[in-house]
Amino acid sequence: MSRRPPETIYLTGASRGIGRATALALAERGHRLGLMDRDAEGLNILAEQLRFSERVHAVRCADVTDLGTVRCATAELEAEIGPPDVLVACAGVGGLTLLPDLQPEALQSMLQVNVVGVAYAIDAVLPGMIERSHGHLVGISSVAGYRGMPWMASYSASKAALTTYLEGLRPALKRRGVTITTVYPGFVRTAMTEGTPFRRPIRMMEPEQAAAYLVRAIERKPRDFVFPLGTALGMEFLRRMPGRVYDWMMDRAGPNALTVEF
Ligand SMILES: NC(=O)c1ccc[n+]([C@@H]2O[C@H](COP(=O)([O-])OP(=O)(O)OC[C@H]3O[C@@H](n4cnc5c(N)ncnc54)[C@H](OP(=O)(O)O)[C@@H]3O)[C@@H](O)[C@H]2O)c1
Repeated sequence: MSRRPPETIYLTGASRGIGRATALALAERGHRLGLMDRDAEGLNILAEQLRFSERVHAVRCADVTDLGTVRCATAELEAEIGPPDVLVACAGVGGLTLLPDLQPEALQSMLQVNVVGVAYAIDAVLPGMIERSHGHLVGISSVAGYRGMPWMASYSASKAALTTYLEGLRPALKRRGVTITTVYPGFVRTAMTEGTPFRRPIRMMEPEQAAAYLVRAIERKPRDFVFPLGTALGMEFLRRMPGRVYDWMMDRAGPNALTVEF
């Protein structure tokens, strides 16, 4: 990958999984980093690992579901490392939706973190980006938001909502100099996917591989960025499938994919 001039990049959900691997990859490429997470211990460990870089500042206890906290965190980052060129909204929660207990509180939490939390993080940096007519917002959606996935109805719904939210914001922000990239990762081996009772082993990317893709999305600023290629092609096929054919396929695939009752 060619080297780009360093940018100031704020990241939510930085202490674990894809966010953490992305922070490490971005620091290696010389970017200034503003790291946010609600997990103080995880951020401490990451900050220790990033000692080689002087251009990193971490704000602990930045819960994306609390607008006041997110605003305070971004104000602190701005004072320490300057205003952001890029916001990567990586904080997210997942989980299965199984019958008969739909766990609507889990749906609420996913919508709160995966949709409202992203909106809060954007809201905290947007006035400055608009004033400077410069900024790049990177939202981490998922291929699981392409369609309603069996066992993942709540998660799929939250990621579909995020995708359409970002799509709706895009035109007016573009006029104001702010670009939006929506990222759709396939399966990545993190705490979020760990423990999913798959019947057969599933091919997953390591967080470092996902981070390498994300770095590309951050630096190239495409509208949409889906990875890896095989997942992108397969999920595009599913997305274009007529509803009744999709239902028929899922009806057959459903009982065979997980060890839990469908
Ligand atoms: N793993 C996959 O296969 C996959 C695929 C597609 C998309 N994604 C998306 O990629 C993003 C990262 O997921 P991941 O797999 O890396 O998951 P992860 O390992 O569970 O990491 C999620 C991160 O988000 C943070 N977070 C959760 N709720 C938060 C909140 N309210 N405020 C601030 N931070 C919060 C977590 O902090 P704590 O440590 O405090 O919980 C953690 O650092 C998510 O948006 C996810 O939906 C993941």
